[in-house]
Amino acid sequence: MTETVQPLESLSKKPEEPKLIVNLRRIKRKIMIMSGKGGVGKSTVAANLAAGLALRGYKVGLLDSDIHGPTIPTIFGLESARPDVNEEGILPIEVLPNLSIMSIGFLLENKDSPIIWRGPAKMGAIKQFLEEVIWGALDFLIIDLPPGTGDEPLSVAQLIPDCDGSVLVTTPRM
Ligand SMILES: Nc1ncnc2c1ncn2[C@@H]1O[C@H](COP(=O)(O)OP(=O)(O)OP(=O)(O)O)[C@@H](O)[C@H]1O
Ligand SMILES: [Mg+2]
Repeated sequence: MTETVQPLESLSKKPEEPKLIVNLRRIKRKIMIMSGKGGVGKSTVAANLAAGLALRGYKVGLLDSDIHGPTIPTIFGLESARPDVNEEGILPIEVLPNLSIMSIGFLLENKDSPIIWRGPAKMGAIKQFLEEVIWGALDFLIIDLPPGTGDEPLSVAQLIPDCDGSVLVTTPRM
C-alpha cells in the first residue's frame, strides 16, 4: 500500500497575502482626505496637498476613490486620459515628475453618463479598483474619499491598511 506524504514545505507555507496589502506595502505614509458632507473642497485640498508635497521632492500618489463624482481628472485637465495597464494591474498617470494620479473617473466609459451602482456592486468595484492600481514605492499616498460618513468612505477607509492620518475638510456653511 502506498501512502502519499505531504511535502514539508507545503505545510509551512504562509497563506497568501491579500493583493491590496501587497500593492500598498511600499508606501511610507497614507493620508485620507475626508469630510462630513459633499462639496466642501476635499478634492481641492487633496490635489494641492499632493502637488505641494511633490514640489518639495517627495514621491507622491493621489488616489481619487469617489465613484460618483471623481473630480481629480478634471482638476488636472486629464478628463479624457486613459491609464496604461500591464500584467500586474493599472498604472497611475504621471502629472509631475514626482506626482502620479489615479481616479475611478479614468475607467468610466463616459463621464457624462449616469451610472446606477447598487450597494454590493459598488463595494466590489471600489475594492477591485484599490487592488488593481500599481503604485510602486511612494513617500505619500493622498486618498480623496467620497463625501460623507456613509458606506462608501467607510469601506475605503477600512480597506486601506495602516492609514497614518486624515484631514477633515469643513466649511462654515450650515
Ligand atoms: N477654499 C476654497 N474657496 C472657495 N471655493 C473653493 C475652495 N476650495 C474649493 N472650492 C470650490 O468648491 C467647489 C467644490 O470643491 P471640491 O470639488 O474640491 O469639493 P469636494 O469636497 O471634493 O466635493 P465632492 O464632495 O463633490 O467630492 C469647487 O468648485 C471648488 O473650486
Ligand atoms: Mg471631491
